[in-house]
Amino acid sequence: MAALKPLIAGNWKMHGRAADLDEITTLRGALGGAANAVEVVICPPAVYLSAAAVRCGQGVMLGAQDCSPAAADAARTGEVSAAMLAEAGASYVIVGHSERRSLHGEDDALVRAKAAAARAAGLAPIVCVGETRAQREAGQVGEVVTAQVVGSVPDAGVVVAYEPVWAIGGDRTPSLEEIAEVHALIRTALGRMFSADAAGVRILYGGSVGPKNAADIFATPGVDGALVGRASLKAADFSAIVLAHPNATAGMR
Ligand code: PGA
Repeated sequence: MAALKPLIAGNWKMHGRAADLDEITTLRGALGGAANAVEVVICPPAVYLSAAAVRCGQGVMLGAQDCSPAAADAARTGEVSAAMLAEAGASYVIVGHSERRSLHGEDDALVRAKAAAARAAGLAPIVCVGETRAQREAGQVGEVVTAQVVGSVPDAGVVVAYEPVWAIGGDRTPSLEEIAEVHALIRTALGRMFSADAAGVRILYGGSVGPKNAADIFATPGVDGALVGRASLKAADFSAIVLAHPNATAGMR
């Protein structure tokens, strides 16, 4: 199987104001040629996408954090369609982040509809899955994550992000062996769903990725990149994460 181009995406969540968009310019400067060997994506709040788009380029691309499941323009007050995100300059959109699943009650069917709407608009959805701490303690990781993949992924034109809910926003991550295990079972589920096409799906790890643990996580079997929250807000941290990827270093030469 040809190696997949790694993807490292930064999810700003509801952080970052207009003045912080210059971090993107700083990031591009810090990455230099490294961004050719790794896909780097910044996902700012939707209202800043257009302003962020003019700062992207040269390997730093733009993503959104959520989209409407409605594929066509519709009477949906407060929602933003995938087509609108694409028009604003996004190439990716995160769907099914655990904060949306837990705070907004999004279930697999809705996440799947959002991912399908994103695909229809030409965006690559980053579909998030991951178990809670209680589910891990109950030994249910395999069944929970597999069910989320089966229920949330519409086709093989997606990126999957494995984000254990309990590892987000704290300082704990699963062990590297546990990460490898879950990435392998996601790969198996995708293989059952999409046969050979599944080989093209990148599986990212997310949850407390930072400059200190990025190299080990990138070296873990089955990890095709990362979805980064807090550590993506500052160019210094995020560039250190990207440069910790072996491909990025190779791209600098
Ligand atoms: P974190 O967030 O890196 O701040 O833990 C990750 C995420 O929620 O995608």
